[in-house]
Amino acid sequence: MVSGDLKLALTIPRGSLTEQKFSPIVLGCVLNNRNVYTRLKATECPDATMVDNNPLILERGEGSYVWDLDGKKYIDLCAGFGSLALGHNHKRLKKILENSTLYQGMGDVYASRSKLECLETLKSFLPEDFTHGAFAVTGSQAVELALKTACLYTGGSGVISFTEGYHGLDLGLLPITGREDFRAPFKGLLAKEIVEHVPYNSSNEKLEAALSALKRREVKPACVIAEPILGRGGMILPEEGFLERLSSFCKKNGILLILDEILTGLGRIGTYTSSHEISCDIICLGKILGGGFPISSCFAKKDIMKSWDLGQVESLHTGTFFGHPLMCELSKETLLEIKENSLAEKAKQLGEFLEKSLKEKLSHSKKIKDIRIRGLMGAIEFKEDGLAAKAMFSLRENGLILIPSGKEARTLSMTPALNISKDTLEEAISILTQTLLETL
Ligand SMILES: Cc1ncc(COP(=O)(O)O)c(C=O)c1O
Repeated sequence: MVSGDLKLALTIPRGSLTEQKFSPIVLGCVLNNRNVYTRLKATECPDATMVDNNPLILERGEGSYVWDLDGKKYIDLCAGFGSLALGHNHKRLKKILENSTLYQGMGDVYASRSKLECLETLKSFLPEDFTHGAFAVTGSQAVELALKTACLYTGGSGVISFTEGYHGLDLGLLPITGREDFRAPFKGLLAKEIVEHVPYNSSNEKLEAALSALKRREVKPACVIAEPILGRGGMILPEEGFLERLSSFCKKNGILLILDEILTGLGRIGTYTSSHEISCDIICLGKILGGGFPISSCFAKKDIMKSWDLGQVESLHTGTFFGHPLMCELSKETLLEIKENSLAEKAKQLGEFLEKSLKEKLSHSKKIKDIRIRGLMGAIEFKEDGLAAKAMFSLRENGLILIPSGKEARTLSMTPALNISKDTLEEAISILTQTLLETL
């Protein structure tokens, strides 16, 4: 997921290590990081795994620890890009996997008990007026569902999104990503005229100008899509009052506010959803929702979701794996574990501890520009481009997994499991601070 950022930082073209010839079946060969990576590179699309001079192949995980194929142990502060809410191999989810009686269902045709239970459980995490939702598989699909919903409800198609925002890379979403490097190779396939990008924390004047630009092109505006904190953009925080201002702007102009909480939602930043504080119309959730398994959701207020009721016989938006019974079961258990163990509140407390510790130990460093922590979502921003990618490799050597974020790979991002223990977090802080101070 960070491969584009790393490519930029390391300036190694993808595919440059892929030309080695070998036999796919090596009898008697003991698998290790190096030989599995080499075989992977000879078989896989060059874009699918980052180029790595010292490859790491994940083999097994337990809680907040993972082991690679060479047997080396790491603390995992990335936790499946923030999706492993309960860490690796949690016993509650293992039990579901062992006892499941229905692996696959029939999507929009015949529902399952677990779909209903998951939907109701998720609803209990949201404000009361978010009454109706649907499931998809990936975060990107939840955002596509949200955009289609906004289109149906408003009759418009114009979207205002943020230059540094990230909502996924599916074709329908590429026009709303602010990153030109993600869009450029596919330009011919994209309906760019429906989108206006503005910088995060923009003034009302800039937002008004974006609205006018859409109207000038005769595109009826439908929505603004915003992350409560920009994650992949480098953990950029909203300025005081910005999200409230955005909400008023949408209301005033009769368009919807979609909050993309795929990364920030369900406990990550110490709250279940930012929609308790920010009045919005549609919420997208993913990552933590599945506890490491692929499931996402889009929830809206009843009158908004009702706009899907077009009297059609066949579902207009479905997929083979939407509302997958096993994923729903795993998701429900993940949500219940979060609620029963107050993991959102714990994330808030651990985040305060993380922030205090990192600031105490690192604030004096001349290489570091800022440290931003909200719950268990954290970032260390460096002053120079590429330093976060360099740090990632040094940290890995010392047994800690973290990834860069932001286009220039200036920011090291942290999204550990919500149930990480204080001892493990302390161990991670110690490796992190020592490594950064010694190697940068
Ligand atoms: C805010 C946000 N929205 C959407 C997505 C896309 O989710 P997925 O990669 O599951 O499609 C991401 C992924 O990182 C995200 O952070």
